[in-house]
Amino acid sequence: MFIGTEKLTHTYMPGTPFSTEALQDVSFNFQKGEFALILGPSGSGKSTLIQHLNGLLRPTSGQVIFDGAIVGSNKRELLHLRRRIGLVFQIPEEQFFSESVYDEVAFAPRNLGLDEKVVAERVEEALQKVGMQVNTVKSWHPFRLSAGQKRLVAIAAVLSLKPEVLIFDEPSVGLDPAGKKNIFNLLKDLNQKDGLTIIISTHHLDEAAVLADRVLVLKQGRLVMFGSADYIFAQRKRLNELGLALPQVTEIMHSLVEKGLPVSTEVYTLEQAKSEIKNIKRRN
Ligand SMILES: Nc1ncnc2c1ncn2[C@@H]1O[C@H](COP(=O)(O)OP(=O)(O)O)[C@@H](O)[C@H]1O
Ligand SMILES: [Mg+2]
Repeated sequence: MFIGTEKLTHTYMPGTPFSTEALQDVSFNFQKGEFALILGPSGSGKSTLIQHLNGLLRPTSGQVIFDGAIVGSNKRELLHLRRRIGLVFQIPEEQFFSESVYDEVAFAPRNLGLDEKVVAERVEEALQKVGMQVNTVKSWHPFRLSAGQKRLVAIAAVLSLKPEVLIFDEPSVGLDPAGKKNIFNLLKDLNQKDGLTIIISTHHLDEAAVLADRVLVLKQGRLVMFGSADYIFAQRKRLNELGLALPQVTEIMHSLVEKGLPVSTEVYTLEQAKSEIKNIKRRN
C-alpha cells in the first residue's frame, strides 16, 4: 500500500449534540504513480478524507497509511509527511497572504529553512511547471491575477515543496472552461511526465474521467465503490443512483448503444467520441 486508510472513522464534535460521523470505517489504498479520484456528492466526506491523507485531521478510530507506515501524531513525523504529500485546498487562492507571487510561492520552502538561493531555484522551477516565468510574474500581487492564474500560483506554492503526492480538493471549482482545461492538462503532465501520484476529489466527472486510474466513491461517509476507473465507470446505473453522472460524452455513447449502434462506452473525451462515431460509418 502506498497511500490509504484502514477502517478510518472521523467524528466531528464527538459527544456533543452536533456530533457528525463524517467518515465511517473507510478502507482503501492507492498505488504509487496513480491518478486517483475521490468521488461523491456534497457532504459525503471528501474534504474530511483528504485532510486525513495529509495528516491535518486525526482519526477518531482507524489509521492512515503512507509508504508502508502508519501516520503517527508526533510533530516531526507530520512535518515530514506534509513535505512529501502536498495538499491544494478547495479555492486555495482564498488563503493567499503574501504581497507578491514570489513570496507566496517561496513561503513553504523558506519555512523549511532552506537557503535563499535554493528557495529561488524552487520558486523558479515551481512557477515554470505551471507555465509561468518567474521574471515576469514575481512582483505581481497575487490578488490581481485572474482566477485561473491564481489557481496556478496556488499549485506552484505547493510544488515548491517538491512533493511526491499531490492532493487536490475539487481542483476546478470556480474556473471557466479554459481555466479548467488548463488545470487538468497540468495535472496530467505532473502525473505522466513528473511521475507524481495525484489524488483529486470531485463531485462531477467531466474533465477528470479520462485521467483516472483508480476511483473511490463515498456516500454519507461510507466507501460504497472502489476499483479501477474502467470497472467503476462501467457501472453507470449505480453511479447515477448515487447522484453521480458520467461525463456528458460518455452518457451520449450509452444513448447510442441503447439505439443499437455498435460503439464503445469507454469514451471520456470529445476526441474519443468522434473517432468512435467515425468508425461506425466505416463498418456500415
Ligand atoms: N469542521 C466541521 N465541523 C463539523 N462538521 C463538519 C465539519 N466539516 C465537515 N463537516 C460535516 O461532515 C460531513 C462531511 O463533510 P465534507 O468532508 O466537507 O464533505 P464533502 O467534501 O464531500 O462535501 C458533512 O456532514 C459536513 O457537514
Ligand atoms: Mg468538500
